[in-house]
Amino acid sequence: MMALLSSWACILIVCFSLSLGEAANLSDLYPPLWEESPGQFSEYRVENGKYIINPWIYPERMGMYKILLTQTARYFEKFGPENENNILWGLPLQHGWQYKSGRLADPSQRTDCGYESGDRLCISVDSWWADMNYFLCAVPFLAAVDSGIMGISSDQVTLLPPPKDEMKFCVNVSACQSSISTAMRKWNIFYKHLQSPFSSFEDLLKYLWDAHTQSLHDVSERFDHRLEYYSKPEADFERTWFVDVKYIGALRLPTTLIRIHELQKGLPPRMLVKGDRIPFISDFSQRQNIFLFVLNLVGDVNNWTGSLSLTIWNYFMKTQNAREKTLEFIETILEKFNSTSPK
Ligand SMILES: *[C@@H]1O[C@H](CO)[C@@H](O)[C@H](O)[C@H]1NC(C)=O
Ligand SMILES: *[C@@H]1O[C@H](CO)[C@@H](O)[C@H](O)[C@H]1NC(C)=O
Ligand SMILES: *[C@@H]1O[C@H](CO)[C@@H](O)[C@H](O)[C@H]1NC(C)=O
Ligand SMILES: *[C@@H]1O[C@H](CO)[C@@H](O)[C@H](O)[C@H]1NC(C)=O
Repeated sequence: MMALLSSWACILIVCFSLSLGEAANLSDLYPPLWEESPGQFSEYRVENGKYIINPWIYPERMGMYKILLTQTARYFEKFGPENENNILWGLPLQHGWQYKSGRLADPSQRTDCGYESGDRLCISVDSWWADMNYFLCAVPFLAAVDSGIMGISSDQVTLLPPPKDEMKFCVNVSACQSSISTAMRKWNIFYKHLQSPFSSFEDLLKYLWDAHTQSLHDVSERFDHRLEYYSKPEADFERTWFVDVKYIGALRLPTTLIRIHELQKGLPPRMLVKGDRIPFISDFSQRQNIFLFVLNLVGDVNNWTGSLSLTIWNYFMKTQNAREKTLEFIETILEKFNSTSPK
């Protein structure tokens, strides 16, 4: 058991670990406005003995992640220092990219929500990205509260509903348990294994990705009509991304701080617009163009084969060895296209 653990730790640290590169300080890798976001419940408003969180304001939503990362840090100490190996990092980093790249703004442009020139911190309920992310923030957060690892009880916190489509979003533990029950249960299973001293890093990744893909699956069609607000390239990218996440999940990508920070350099730094031709977008870096090209290719193959390719992929990704080798291969390719400035 220990031997297995330590050899896996060796693989993680020595063979896989991406170098910190220019960042000498882990805090440089945190998502935008992390320092400014609430890191404990007492920093939120209290009403009738309940903490009130508005997940439609960026720092307040980010604060939910910050509390989650802080409260789970103790379970990841055995995998490395400074909470760097906390696999929940993938969620706030992804949300930070959405914010930085303008994807949380009102795509219908009827309001100034999320725009630099308007209310930059506003998260628009009309943003497809913001809506999907809600179920990768509120659900893991409330399930953590329900699991008892957040230090408050289930009826002590409530989220504010968005200005419209209130019925599509659950705002507290019991409401989420009834409206998105399978995903809530899978996040609970993840936290149960997190609290067990016998869970390996690989086990935790498995339960994390199970819960992650279930959250997306449970709301898969709920926000399809949002896609019409977007340019064709961006809407295509959203559809593709939704498919690609299933492949990434099967790979059980270790969603740790350094690794996800590194991988996200390949994601589009702004919304795609009419006229963007992948992989020849001139203000994107080589890596961003290649990464988009590969993501598209995976989406297309999935489409052509009627998702038979996903079944096959899942089959081949069953063993840890295959997943490691595949990941290593992908990261080697990406490192070859590592110029960060536009080509
Ligand atoms: C890292 O950055 C944080 C915030 O900027 C600072 O408080 C901390 O002292 C830095 N740590 C190191 C080792 O430089
Ligand atoms: C949870 O939210 C629902 C509305 O979505 C509400 O009816 C219910 O009373 C809330 N439950 C608690 C415990 O606050
Ligand atoms: C798959 O094909 C359908 C029909 O051609 C298309 O509408 C859809 O956008 C495609 N999906 C992806 C992920 O490319
Ligand atoms: C890109 O990666 C190669 C090989 O890994 C390395 O030699 C080169 O310095 C890197 N370039 C940049 C800009 O990081």
